[in-house]
Amino acid sequence: MKRVDDFRLRFGKQEIVPIVIGGMGVDISTADLALEAARLGGIGHISDAMIKTVTDRRYSTKFVKEKLQLYKTNVNNADKSVVQFNLGRLAEATRLHVSKTMEAKRGDGLIFINCMEKLTMNAPKETLRVRLREALDAGIDGITLAAGLHLGSFALIEDHPRFRDAKLGIIVSSLRALQLFLRKSARTNRLPDFIVIEGPLAGGHLGFGMDWAEYDLATIVAEIRQWMVAEHLDIPLIPAGGIFTGSDAVSFLEQGAAAVQVATRFTVAKECGLPEDVQQEYFRASEGDIEVNTISPTGYPMRMLKNSPAIGDGIRPNCEAYGYLLDANGNCAYINSYNREVAAHPEAKKIKVMDKTCLCTQMRNFDCWTCGQYTYKLKDTTIKAADGSYKILSTEHIFHDYQFSTDGKIALPD
Ligand SMILES: Cc1cc2nc3c(=O)[nH]c(=O)nc-3n(C[C@H](O)[C@H](O)[C@H](O)COP(=O)(O)O)c2cc1C
Repeated sequence: MKRVDDFRLRFGKQEIVPIVIGGMGVDISTADLALEAARLGGIGHISDAMIKTVTDRRYSTKFVKEKLQLYKTNVNNADKSVVQFNLGRLAEATRLHVSKTMEAKRGDGLIFINCMEKLTMNAPKETLRVRLREALDAGIDGITLAAGLHLGSFALIEDHPRFRDAKLGIIVSSLRALQLFLRKSARTNRLPDFIVIEGPLAGGHLGFGMDWAEYDLATIVAEIRQWMVAEHLDIPLIPAGGIFTGSDAVSFLEQGAAAVQVATRFTVAKECGLPEDVQQEYFRASEGDIEVNTISPTGYPMRMLKNSPAIGDGIRPNCEAYGYLLDANGNCAYINSYNREVAAHPEAKKIKVMDKTCLCTQMRNFDCWTCGQYTYKLKDTTIKAADGSYKILSTEHIFHDYQFSTDGKIALPD
């Protein structure tokens, strides 16, 4: 029986252990997690979601305070169009996070950055251009374009000196999305270096509607593979979503996948950014505690634990401090929902907003517990102490379990 370690992901002459730890914003896939993946010979992701908040927390910068100070007179205004990101500061924050991470890199693996294009930041094109270019300048090994794939992204960096040397990949959930991207970016004369195919069991936002349960990762991967063969396209395919054991990974690798992208198993790693009390919630979850809902203002369904504090929490929108989901006109679906509830309950000190959430604030505070469908199996990957708590695992332990296990087995920690 084969193990993941019998396979390698090849980028030219470079050989990588075919395990990619997916990006998890906001700073759930920390630099420490990504660095471990690279040290162990695989690929790790940092994320550029809410990067100014992340650098404030990690490197004592004051980006958020500065932005809030600038726009604080707008806090009670429903119109957020004036709340703009300072592109220079955005560049500074990106450069800091990426360069500090890359300086600390050891081992033969790679570190990529996950850029979710749904972070429209009140100026989608201008902010995305800065995010991508600064990450390249600061030496990132590769960029994974995610959530809300902007079809013109390659064009934003085509004149960058590293455009052809950095690894650039995309995440898609259907053949159609892939075809659209390839058609749109054909003008840049550059294909993606890898394609992550994310199925309906993944964590975070889903590239499906609320009918997600009707789709199946293996079927989508087979369809994309067939089309690629017919088109004589040879790009590494990386399935993601619900790949829980080394054996699950091997079955994709045997069918021609170049690597697998995984995330949920690593949400309970020591190096992961989730606070330990939240990690214990993930361990304790049963299947019925996990739902896919539509509270994300992005319009994409999102999977999370039903007891996430974010659900129903009617806090005032925090766009002056954050504002990552403001569209090009300064709108966010949460602002509308919040204002509707305030108008309906003018006397209330605290209101509930059930249909949308202030995702920036809730993700920043680790109160939106997004997770993959198999989170309920995490308890089977560790040991339980007498006080009922579960043992947090090391990234190395989980990575090696994927790399070396056979027969659907999961190695428990010592
Ligand atoms: C907690 C969590 C947060 C995530 N955040 C993001 C994200 O910010 N951007 C993204 O592209 N994917 C995100 N994902 C998806 C993962 O990168 C990955 O593709 C997917 O979850 C793999 O499936 P698995 O969790 O079943 O292993 C997230 C997943 C989890 C579990």
